[in-house]
Amino acid sequence: SRYNIAVLVGSLRRESFNRRLATAIAGLAPPEFTFKQLEIGDLPLYNQDDDADQPAPVKRLKAEIQAASGLLFVTPEYNRSIPGVLKNAIDHASRPYGQSAFTGKSAGVIGVSPGAIGTAVAQQHLRGVLAYLDVATLGQPEAFIQAKEGLFDEAGQIGPGSRKFLQNWMDRYVAWIRRHAT
Ligand code: FNR
Repeated sequence: SRYNIAVLVGSLRRESFNRRLATAIAGLAPPEFTFKQLEIGDLPLYNQDDDADQPAPVKRLKAEIQAASGLLFVTPEYNRSIPGVLKNAIDHASRPYGQSAFTGKSAGVIGVSPGAIGTAVAQQHLRGVLAYLDVATLGQPEAFIQAKEGLFDEAGQIGPGSRKFLQNWMDRYVAWIRRHAT
C-alpha cells in the first residue's frame, strides 16, 4: 500500500476502548492506507544508561516508526495526562539524542474515555510532547470521543451515531498524511 501508518495505542488493557477505536477507524480509511498497531507493552522502563545499546524491542519500535508514512496516536487519559506506558514508548523512540525516530513525521491524535471530556487534557499534553519532537499533528478537527452504548456496532465498527463525525475526521487525517507523508 502507498501509505503505512504506525498506530500507537496508549492502553494495554485487553478490552481497551482505545484499541477498539484504533481498529474501527482504520476501516474508515481508503484502501491505499494500511494501519499497524505497534507493540509497546514489552518495552522496558526507559533508562538513559541503555542509550548506547538499546534493547531489541526498542530498536524494533524505532524501525517501525521510521518506516511509517505517518503516525496515529489513540490514547486514553490517565489522571489528566497520557498513560505512562505511552510516554515510556515515546521517550524510548526519541533517544539517543539526535537519533529520534520521530523527526519530521506527521500524526493524528484521537482518544476515547467514558468521561464527558473524552481525553481532551491527555491529548493536549500529547500535542505538546509531539511538537517538541518535530511531529506535525493534525489540528482540526479535534476528536474527544466519549465511550457510550452504541459507539461500536456488533462487528466492532463505528456505530451510526458517530460514523459521520469519525469519517470526516479520518478524511481530514488522510489528507494530512498525503500532504506530509515521509
Ligand atoms: C483513568 N480514567 C480516566 N478517564 C478520564 O477521562 N480522565 C482521567 O484523567 C482518567 N484517569 C484515569 C487514571 C487511571 C490510572 C485509569 C486506570 C483510568 C478512566 C479511563 O478513561 C478508562 O479506564 C478507559 O477505559 C481507559 O481506556 P481503555 O483502556 O479502555 O482504552
